[in-house]
Amino acid sequence: MARGRTTAPRDMVLGHEISGEVIEKGDDVEFINVGDLVSVPFNVACGRCRNCKERHTDVCLNVNPTRPGGAYGYVDLGGWTGGQANYVMVPYADFNLLKFPDKDQAMKKILDLTCLTDILPTGYHGAVSAGVGTGSTVYIAGAGPVGLAAAGASQLLGAACIIVGDLNKERLTHAKRFGFETIDLSVDAPIPDQLHQIVGVPEVDAAIDCVGFEAHGSCGEAQPAVVLNTAMDVTRAGGAIGIPGSMLGRTLGRPRKPPSTAISPCVLVSAGQNRSRSTPVRHP
Ligand SMILES: NC(=O)c1ccc[n+]([C@@H]2O[C@H](COP(=O)([O-])OP(=O)(O)OC[C@H]3O[C@@H](n4cnc5c(N)ncnc54)[C@H](O)[C@@H]3O)[C@@H](O)[C@H]2O)c1
Ligand SMILES: [Zn+2]
Repeated sequence: MARGRTTAPRDMVLGHEISGEVIEKGDDVEFINVGDLVSVPFNVACGRCRNCKERHTDVCLNVNPTRPGGAYGYVDLGGWTGGQANYVMVPYADFNLLKFPDKDQAMKKILDLTCLTDILPTGYHGAVSAGVGTGSTVYIAGAGPVGLAAAGASQLLGAACIIVGDLNKERLTHAKRFGFETIDLSVDAPIPDQLHQIVGVPEVDAAIDCVGFEAHGSCGEAQPAVVLNTAMDVTRAGGAIGIPGSMLGRTLGRPRKPPSTAISPCVLVSAGQNRSRSTPVRHP
């Protein structure tokens, strides 16, 4: 969106990693109070439609007039104002807000807790979608924040070997510090061969795409579909692939309408307007 690859208008307020203090609440809000310190999950959801009740808040039916799913500060996801602002309006606050029970304790860790709104659950969801469990071998493409969150989640889920691939050496060094195996994709060696050297076979039980459509090849050239294709190559028969990375339909060769809509296959987003139930939140 920031690089002009989507239909995002020039002055759009971006950002959906929102945590803050409630400074005002709508008449219908029952369980959230002024002064509460809260995390704001980036999906906007009503909590009462069929999809929300079935835990698919990513495709809520009531928060985006153009299609299911909404999010703060995200193109084509309902027009909800993003979190790069002093104040944010949160609809359906009782459902959408996650209140930290001990405000003082939470403030001591507020920078870590901010990861709850997006990056941490995104990585975790990617690992769960890829079927990561006890003893799994996992290949994670991308050593950015989502990739590291997916790696950490895989560890929590009991994976035996977690391998993170990227072209960025500094990020790989960072990943290694946490005890993950790494693959340097700028090296001219096929990924299955590099996996073979680590786990003894050229494949893994689970792969997670934490790159999306901005993927690059080993020489640094743009190759939007390369990570998905690699994931399919290296995942064993019967394994699974999690795809939190964002996709643009047209960049993968499949035109969509509108053609520049951004989609996130693992965790979708949606948006809606119900000001009577809204709760503004101030960033700490
Ligand atoms: N589904 C969701 O809800 C959700 C939430 C947050 C982020 N995302 C998406 O997840 C993706 C990752 O987010 P991020 O913040 O970690 O991004 P990032 O740009 O910080 O990291 C991506 C990393 O991928 C690396 N990379 C590029 N080509 C590669 C390749 N072929 N193989 C392996 N690595 C490669 C880059 O060098 C970079 O380090 C983005 O597409 C983002 O939009 C989705
Ligand atoms: Zn809903």
